[in-house]
Amino acid sequence: MDRAALRLILLGVFLISASSHPVKKQYVDIYSFYINSTVTSRYATTVITSRVANTVNESQEIQFEVKIPKNAFISKFRMTIEGKIYDGVVKEKQEAQQQYSRAVSRGESAGLIKSVGRTLEDFKTSVTVAAFSKVTFELTYEELLKRRLGKYELLINAQPMQPVADFKIDVHIQEKPGFSFLEVKGDLSTGDLANAIKTTRADKDAWVTFYPTQHQQTKCESCGESGLKGDLLITYDVERSSHKGEVMVSNGYFVHYFAPSDVSRIPKNVVFIIDRSGSMHGRKIHQTRLALLKILSDLDEDDHFGLITFDSEVKTWKNELLKATKENLETAKSFVKEIREGGYTDINAAVLAGVDMIHRHPREGTASILILLTDGDPTSGETNKDRIMANVREAIGPKFPLYCLGFGYDVNFDFLTKMSLENGGVARRIYEDSDADLQLQGFYDEVAVPLLTDVQLKYTGGTNLTKTSFSLYFNGSEIVVSGQITDNSVESFTSEVIAVSKGSNVTYQETVMVKDTSDVPPENEDFMPRLWAYLTVKQILERQVLLKGQEKEDEKKEALKLSLKYQFVTPLTSMVVTKPQGEEVEVADKPKEGGEEPDVDISTYNANYPSGQTFDLLAAPDSWPSSLETLYDSVYYYDLEPDSDLHIRSTYTQTAVTEFPEVQDPHYLYIVLPSTATLLIIAGFGIFWICRKHRKTNQEVQTRGEEITYADPTFYKRKAHKSIVQEEDEVVYSLQL
Ligand SMILES: *[C@@H]1O[C@H](CO)[C@@H](O)[C@H](O)[C@H]1NC(C)=O
Ligand SMILES: *[C@@H]1O[C@H](CO)[C@@H](O)[C@H](O)[C@H]1NC(C)=O
Ligand SMILES: *[C@@H]1O[C@H](CO)[C@@H](O)[C@H](O)[C@H]1NC(C)=O
Ligand SMILES: *[C@@H]1O[C@H](CO)[C@@H](O)[C@H](O)[C@H]1NC(C)=O
Ligand SMILES: *[C@@H]1O[C@H](CO)[C@@H](O)[C@H](O)[C@H]1NC(C)=O
Repeated sequence: MDRAALRLILLGVFLISASSHPVKKQYVDIYSFYINSTVTSRYATTVITSRVANTVNESQEIQFEVKIPKNAFISKFRMTIEGKIYDGVVKEKQEAQQQYSRAVSRGESAGLIKSVGRTLEDFKTSVTVAAFSKVTFELTYEELLKRRLGKYELLINAQPMQPVADFKIDVHIQEKPGFSFLEVKGDLSTGDLANAIKTTRADKDAWVTFYPTQHQQTKCESCGESGLKGDLLITYDVERSSHKGEVMVSNGYFVHYFAPSDVSRIPKNVVFIIDRSGSMHGRKIHQTRLALLKILSDLDEDDHFGLITFDSEVKTWKNELLKATKENLETAKSFVKEIREGGYTDINAAVLAGVDMIHRHPREGTASILILLTDGDPTSGETNKDRIMANVREAIGPKFPLYCLGFGYDVNFDFLTKMSLENGGVARRIYEDSDADLQLQGFYDEVAVPLLTDVQLKYTGGTNLTKTSFSLYFNGSEIVVSGQITDNSVESFTSEVIAVSKGSNVTYQETVMVKDTSDVPPENEDFMPRLWAYLTVKQILERQVLLKGQEKEDEKKEALKLSLKYQFVTPLTSMVVTKPQGEEVEVADKPKEGGEEPDVDISTYNANYPSGQTFDLLAAPDSWPSSLETLYDSVYYYDLEPDSDLHIRSTYTQTAVTEFPEVQDPHYLYIVLPSTATLLIIAGFGIFWICRKHRKTNQEVQTRGEEITYADPTFYKRKAHKSIVQEEDEVVYSLQL
């Protein structure tokens, strides 16, 4: 019998009216919407300005909602209403929380920023505006663009919710070494909108403008009646005439960008440690196989590799690392094709087996890498996470990095982050989605070509430096170090990089004249201290998981001090947004980094149907996803009390999960509505309450009389358990609209 696995989320057939934010769009005129982004040496500052008029003769609530990159820190938010300015103020989180709880106790709501999807956060607020009055919203955020696979990406999202008469995106990029290429992509560059984009390039500057007319704003693939909706993605790279990197000095600060390409690749020893526990069932294991097959094809002939799969048992393809010859790759691929999911998760034994494999292989003149892919907690063998981390740390020594890829939302990402940081690597999320295999390959591509190992950067006269020691440098990436200069009167500043390239030591030395500040245009003079603060805060926050006691507190204090000084909304601070008198105070917090859960919006579907009837949901509101494939990705599952009357019943016939989207039409979901409104209300409130408390429910369901594994909504920390769902069982679903 075909096993069907759906990922379904929580539910939201609600009697409670869901319209908590009545936005009368038609009575609101966004008459101007500007996005102004300035990038100076990879440091991007973006200002979004939205000017809105209340066009009716009574006061109403006007909403401002924008999406910003997760990597960015918000540094300013301002509302101007009838000439009066309301600035958001960044405060220590606790202090802001106190203000926040006072607001809550007055029955006011709060919480302005939430994480959406993989790369963006949503900032949303609203304010009441008098009849025929105007409001200006202005939001500023800052980020350091990271080089990945040979390029920087500046992502700008625009969805003003209506066509705007005066809409402008202005991007100005200043890069001292000049550009090797620059491209504008994203859904806002498609169709008719492409004509609205202008790119101008000079020696060290590039400008991208996007001025679509009101008419054009309704004419792109992802736009419509409600205007523009999508991303503008500007990708570029800079010229690198000097392999010593680019050193810039200004006002007592420096930044060093180091990305040499004059060295040859170092052969690598790579071991893939692949989770094949039961929870990998279905699409995840399928995508993992696909990705591995592709990755194996990309190995270089002088690479050595090993494959380990594990559930409660550890299985190796071969006992030692083998050269990536054609024959070896063929047998490895057959091994990969046979990977099947099974039991529990013994991360400890699997990683130790991988470490042992690398240790037994001669490593002179090579770079060793361990890549762990898992989708869950350790549940077999050693399950104490501290002991696992200690074991792994001891086994690896600081000899080579461990990269951890956390697949899906059930992983303990904090644990993976900590374990990889302790061992010189990083943890990365692999989002459960149709492109998970590409995400896995993308990660591999980033680490595919090691160029240097044991990279140490030194700066005479430099202080308060960001991270200066890196175990590996990969082609296509970039090392960035920033710091302060102790003696600002020195004439020159010297950087020195010592690293190992294919077994031999290499040194790069560069001296720049401090007085030569002509390269930094006056209006951006202050970017360097901000860049330094941004990088320092990011790295301290990352290191926090590794530190303990006083050191941890001291570093945290330092990061807090900088966040407050530069008004960054970081995980340590909150922005308090005060509004005109009589309105609530709101608090903006940065969503937790790396630990985001899918956004479960349960309050959006208002099932206002007569009771006792059956509805075809696909024929219902337009906003329901129209294909089951999307449905699986955005639907979560929740099982109600067995005798409750509120159901949406799944009656589709078949989902061949291993060959995923091959589902046949028609797929129907039905809502069977209860006979009495009372039951509905009770159930609705119950669910609402549970959802509020446990917005983390996420699990796989296997229907058709098979076992299902799902999270117990009564546990905050999700503990998987199993139960049987019969084919005819009625379960409750909801869509994320
Ligand atoms: C963008 O910012 C630059 C520099 O601050 C300014 O000169 C320009 O007028 C701004 N453009 C818009 C559309 O606000
Ligand atoms: C707003 O205008 C309508 C007619 O356009 C009128 O009936 C109503 O009384 C006005 N409301 C206020 C508060 O002036
Ligand atoms: C590094 O990547 C660039 C393209 O981004 C490529 O041209 C170059 O050959 C690569 N270097 C090595 C050593 O593979
Ligand atoms: C920078 O370092 C100096 C000591 O070298 C220290 O006194 C100072 O507080 C540091 N400044 C910041 C902002 O970290
Ligand atoms: C590289 O430098 C280190 C110390 O600086 C030294 O121990 C090592 O022998 C050198 N390796 C080579 C290949 O020169």
